[in-house]
Amino acid sequence: MKGSLKGQKVVIVGGTSGMGYGAAQEVIKHGAEVVVVGTTIEKINIAVSALGEKSQGLLANILEESSLKSLADQLDTIDHVFITASPGGTNRLTDQEFDIKKSYLYGKVWSSLMTVKMLLPKLSKSGSVIFLTGGFALKPDGNATLVTGAYTALEGLTRALALELAPIRVNTIRPGMIDSPLWNFMDEDQREELFKTEAKKNPLGKIGTITDIGHAAVFLMTNPYINGETLDISGGRNLA
Ligand SMILES: NC(=O)c1ccc[n+]([C@@H]2O[C@H](COP(=O)([O-])OP(=O)(O)OC[C@H]3O[C@@H](n4cnc5c(N)ncnc54)[C@H](OP(=O)(O)O)[C@@H]3O)[C@@H](O)[C@H]2O)c1
Repeated sequence: MKGSLKGQKVVIVGGTSGMGYGAAQEVIKHGAEVVVVGTTIEKINIAVSALGEKSQGLLANILEESSLKSLADQLDTIDHVFITASPGGTNRLTDQEFDIKKSYLYGKVWSSLMTVKMLLPKLSKSGSVIFLTGGFALKPDGNATLVTGAYTALEGLTRALALELAPIRVNTIRPGMIDSPLWNFMDEDQREELFKTEAKKNPLGKIGTITDIGHAAVFLMTNPYINGETLDISGGRNLA
């Protein structure tokens, strides 16, 4: 069946929360088995018990090569890998300590590349890789300089890796603002205010959901002829 992931295995690094979790829900709906990966065992257990028997959880930290190697060792053949985890430090050039391992560039770009490199021997030739960036790739705001650098680098790497890794397909999702636990560091009133303000700036008058991103991930996994693309899922926010 077209659009089906039946019999396929999907690894989602960052799949215990937010957009990765939304993608885990959607790939299961489309018939896949999913492995959700994160650094916190409690989050893994909660996610796996909610996602059900087609899910499995594994601990790994994308900042550490040895942890990614151990993740790869625990996997058999996989069909798709979606990397949403983006750990990282301060975002302004002027705030940087120039410790690359604490930088958002490392947490986003280097860690995503290390994940692909480590999982590559397990990845089916008919499979795909999906990276995640964000609106700062197109619209810097002066406070997230390193985020813009990381996202634009990853979008460029998407095109280059689509050639290097072919026939494995490589694509990226560029989300707009998404209602996810990422924003739980704010209190409820602050968060509602932020979502309301951002919705007003959006041509569709709303922010996105984790399901919107999951839907895009399933599309990129199941369409066999999309390769080297960055799919903007922001309601047209970058046009406004
Ligand atoms: N939400 C938005 O509006 C938005 C928009 C554009 C871009 N983004 C970017 O997308 C990223 C994901 O957003 P989200 O909303 O899905 O965030 P989220 O709900 O906080 O989920 C992040 C996921 O990544 C995992 N993770 C974090 N550090 C990790 C590490 N070192 N190794 C492995 N897994 C790790 C987390 O699990 P553990 O905590 O257990 O490790 C969790 O499963 C954000 O970090 C942000 O840079 C977000």
